[in-house]
Amino acid sequence: MLTFNLPVLDIAAISAQNAHAENEPTPTEVKKFTALRKLYVETYGCQMNLNDSEIVMGLMRRNGYETTAKPDDADIILLNTCAVRDNAERKIHERLNHLKYYKKRNRDLVIGILGCMAERLRGDLLDKELVDMVIGPDEYRSVPDIVKRASEGEKGIAVRLSRVETYDDILPLRAEGISAWVSIMRGCDKFCSFCVVPFTRGRERSRKLQSVVDEILHLRDNGFREVTLLGQNVNSYRDEQSGSDFSDLLVACARSAPDMRLRYSTSHPYDMSDKLIETMTAYDNICKYVHLPAQSGSNRILQLMNRNYTAEHYIERVNAIKKAIPECALSTDIIVGFPTETEDDHRLTLNLMREVRYDGAYMFNYSPRENTKSWKMGDDVSQETKSRRLSEIIEMQNAASLEKNLAEIGKILEVLVEGASKRNAAEWQGRSDSNKVVIFAHNENSGYIVGDYIKVRINRATSGTLFGDTVK
Ligand code: SAH
Ligand code: SF4
Ligand code: F3S
Repeated sequence: MLTFNLPVLDIAAISAQNAHAENEPTPTEVKKFTALRKLYVETYGCQMNLNDSEIVMGLMRRNGYETTAKPDDADIILLNTCAVRDNAERKIHERLNHLKYYKKRNRDLVIGILGCMAERLRGDLLDKELVDMVIGPDEYRSVPDIVKRASEGEKGIAVRLSRVETYDDILPLRAEGISAWVSIMRGCDKFCSFCVVPFTRGRERSRKLQSVVDEILHLRDNGFREVTLLGQNVNSYRDEQSGSDFSDLLVACARSAPDMRLRYSTSHPYDMSDKLIETMTAYDNICKYVHLPAQSGSNRILQLMNRNYTAEHYIERVNAIKKAIPECALSTDIIVGFPTETEDDHRLTLNLMREVRYDGAYMFNYSPRENTKSWKMGDDVSQETKSRRLSEIIEMQNAASLEKNLAEIGKILEVLVEGASKRNAAEWQGRSDSNKVVIFAHNENSGYIVGDYIKVRINRATSGTLFGDTVK
């Protein structure tokens, strides 16, 4: 769960540049009906949801609302939700139960559900007495209006999906920091058989190249040092107007802000082109880290998953990355217990992981989702077998992560300083180009500040963290 602190960016400057601002109420009009109305947003799910929450807060700010980091202070509580697995939705139901107490204390409190679960469950959520509004990922422009009506006692729902909405003109309201998310596209057309995302986020569409570049320049001017370009499949990005693909976009971003680190997530193995790999090698500020979800190592399962590649193709792409960028860090997503998965299929996944040696992995038990193609295949792998297979996968990954991190000992890495480490005030932390957490000793004479790039010599490692000393 993530919450937001108060914003730092200059919203007025941006909203003055766009057409939508002209239709908005004047500051005095805003004051009349939104005086002291405070908004609290809680975000679940993926990084795109995080960025969407920032977009919603940006919109609400433009309409005169304030944001707060404390639900107790709020007049409006919005939960931005995820529907990817059953346990993601269970968490939201539990949270809603808890919010009953807030509503008891404050009858005027407005509670809204945004995001993928709102899109999936629609009116069913509104039937719960507690929920005043349900708004899907392509209808966030209507949030201020629906909030206003909800505060007058009228429940609201907006769940239409769009073929064109990209929120190109809305500046997200970001917490102060050095690292920002920038969504470059929305939706997904891949229709993997297990996945709700194409249903909850609709058709794939890309932002214009220039608007992405402009946002990055704005972030740079506001002190950000690192940007992660987001999409369900960033490598199928396409700006029809300028004829640019994802590699072209990366080049434009890397050239426009050479002093900022660029990352991207997620890339699909089917679209991992040589051009993209070459682009990564050509610019120092494009981080040498690729999240390339494999899902399974069995061709039979990959086909049932509708992933459109074989394990051989996947390994060939990984080898192309390793050849061009030997130091490149790699991570993956793995699903265990997909319908009909046998011990042999499971072993093939372990084999693939053994061959790639990932730096990190997100590993999940298969969760059947209503209306997806694999829903109809049943859920025939027992919970016990799923759990055992998942432990085996996790064990293999922990060993690989440790091995990869131990290999960093003795190297000098460039680290972007993030601030005090969570455990020990005498230590600070940052991230390497390869996206690894690096901890280093700190005192008042250290001579660097948050947002600086420093050099750290690694002298110790665990499977999750690197430790070292700064070098001049
Ligand atoms: N677009 C990204 C993934 C988004 S969802 C991609 O294709 O890589 C993030 C991850 O959740 C997926 O990669 C998958 O591993 C997992 N996931 C999606 N649906 C799931 C389901 N029904 N059960 C278990 N895991 C699932
Ligand atoms: Fe889901 Fe597949 Fe699209 Fe990723 S590529 S969001 S897993 S349908
Ligand atoms: Fe979840 Fe929607 Fe993201 S289902 S993973 S919040 S796209």
